[in-house]
Amino acid sequence: MTEYHLACVVGARPNFMKMAPLLRAFKQYPHVKTTLIHTGQHYDRNLSDVFFQELGMKQPDVNLEVGSGKHGAQTAQVIERLEAVFEQGPPGGAKYDRLLVVGDVNSTMAATLAAAKLGIPVGHVEAGLRSFDRSMPEEINRIVTDSIADLLLVSEPAGIENLRREGHPDGSMHLVGNVMIDTLVWLLPQARARDTLARHGLEPRRYGVVTLHRPANVDAAMTLSSLLDVLVETSRHLPLAFPIHPRTRRRIEEFGLAGKLREGRILDLPPLGYLDFLALTSQAAVIVTDSGGLQEESTVLGIPCLTARPNTERPITVQEGTSTLVDSDPEQLRACLRAVLDGNYKRGRCPALWDGRAADRIARLIADENHQLGG
Ligand code: UD1
Repeated sequence: MTEYHLACVVGARPNFMKMAPLLRAFKQYPHVKTTLIHTGQHYDRNLSDVFFQELGMKQPDVNLEVGSGKHGAQTAQVIERLEAVFEQGPPGGAKYDRLLVVGDVNSTMAATLAAAKLGIPVGHVEAGLRSFDRSMPEEINRIVTDSIADLLLVSEPAGIENLRREGHPDGSMHLVGNVMIDTLVWLLPQARARDTLARHGLEPRRYGVVTLHRPANVDAAMTLSSLLDVLVETSRHLPLAFPIHPRTRRRIEEFGLAGKLREGRILDLPPLGYLDFLALTSQAAVIVTDSGGLQEESTVLGIPCLTARPNTERPITVQEGTSTLVDSDPEQLRACLRAVLDGNYKRGRCPALWDGRAADRIARLIADENHQLGG
């Protein structure tokens, strides 16, 4: 069978756990040759390297080392450097047959633009998600990426509806499930076997987990301060583990809020690796977050998730799952935390196709596509 060359691009933390199961799944199809390209958007050891080790991913074949920067500069650098990589082509092959991107970070959109200009078809994993909030950089990234991609791989039914509304043909979209959950299902036993809780003096179901990093929550002093007040108050009843994103850490220091963290029982942690983090989230009583991925993971784990956002591009986590949108509003957060502590919080169920097999479905589609093209 003719070789099929797939360029797989990752850039930031949430990309790694989505790409890892795909790379594993493609191993079932020896004619599909993957080139793993890391843009270097995230470069810290604990936002990047540790994931490659824990997720059993091969080291990137190419690292573009773009690093941090304003959105325009970061996007432009990915396009410029990736264009050169695409023009050079895969090792031993004439050209890339397809680019595969995941999620909605700047690297996802930039890679899509670079490929489109060179006539390389694009597959987008996690296509169709829309928050309908264009103040979020991720929403712009999603819209641009989907407008170009011809293979739209969708994780929940709302994604199909959104893509239809935007005029995409039915033949381009496939409801395949959630690749992030593939990684969770695969690594949950390993995560639970770790001594993470004991190391941090925590007992199963008797603590909460907090993550906050979105500009809307952490870039304004008043908002961040009032959210921290509710967390400090809650931590007096339920200790809270808080792995702090670099952006958030910088803001806490800039706004002089570091002292607050020491007022209650908040465990101030650096960003954690995948396994330690899953060990914490999977045994928590509640999760407070503004992360998209964590809304999905908590839904599968059946753990109450209070989402500090006014909207979500993942509506199934609210409709069927355990997530409630509390905006950046301390009062809503406080009320929901009280419901959790009183045992009055809703229960959820696991969405269809979030079963640990999404990457297999995608790999089969792409391998078959090659077959249909006469490869
Ligand atoms: C990015 C994604 C977001 C995702 C998040 C997960 C975009 C638009 N946003 O946001 O969707 O949820 O990743 O973390 O792509 N920094 C470091 N070390 C690093 C990387 C970044 O210190 O390894 C610092 C940067 O200097 C920057 C800040 O963190 O000031 C933000 O980094 P950036 O990658 O621009 O966006 P995130 O907020 O991480």
